[in-house]
Amino acid sequence: MAISESRRSFMGFAFGAVAAVGGAFSLVAMKKTWDPLPSVKAAGFTTVDLSSMQDGELRTIEWRKKPIFILKKAADMTKDSKRDVVIDNASYTVVIGLCTHLGCIPAYAPSEQLFKCACHGGEFDISGVNVFGPPPRPLDIPPFKIEGTKLVLGEEGPEYQKMVAEA
Ligand code: FES
Repeated sequence: MAISESRRSFMGFAFGAVAAVGGAFSLVAMKKTWDPLPSVKAAGFTTVDLSSMQDGELRTIEWRKKPIFILKKAADMTKDSKRDVVIDNASYTVVIGLCTHLGCIPAYAPSEQLFKCACHGGEFDISGVNVFGPPPRPLDIPPFKIEGTKLVLGEEGPEYQKMVAEA
């Protein structure tokens, strides 16, 4: 009796330990998926080094609990002089990944070069401009500052202020 009880409690402990370790690994995996770029967060600012991004690559990072889409435009992608963030001669789309209709997270469809919102069919072009459906305006651009090959989200640098003034 005593042996079986202790075995049962050992099994319970072992299962709990495995579940805890599994849970921890899941959290780490989720974090890696969510925030794949090396970034440094401090006091509402998130610094992202874009130097390792490939042409046509999209990365999603988190800034103030919001998804931020960063797309490095490839040569065949239409540039948008009013919205592109230019770093080291490369053009990037940098937008808050929340649909401007009711706030769903659009998905990137690379073959169509669109961000598509599944909630009500809204679509945004490669620069985040609304081109179809109910979204009333382009995807919002977060305040940013450029430091060499790094993007600092949350700070209003001269490039961001110029962009806002021309919008
Ligand atoms: S929330 Fe995106 S289209 Fe409605």
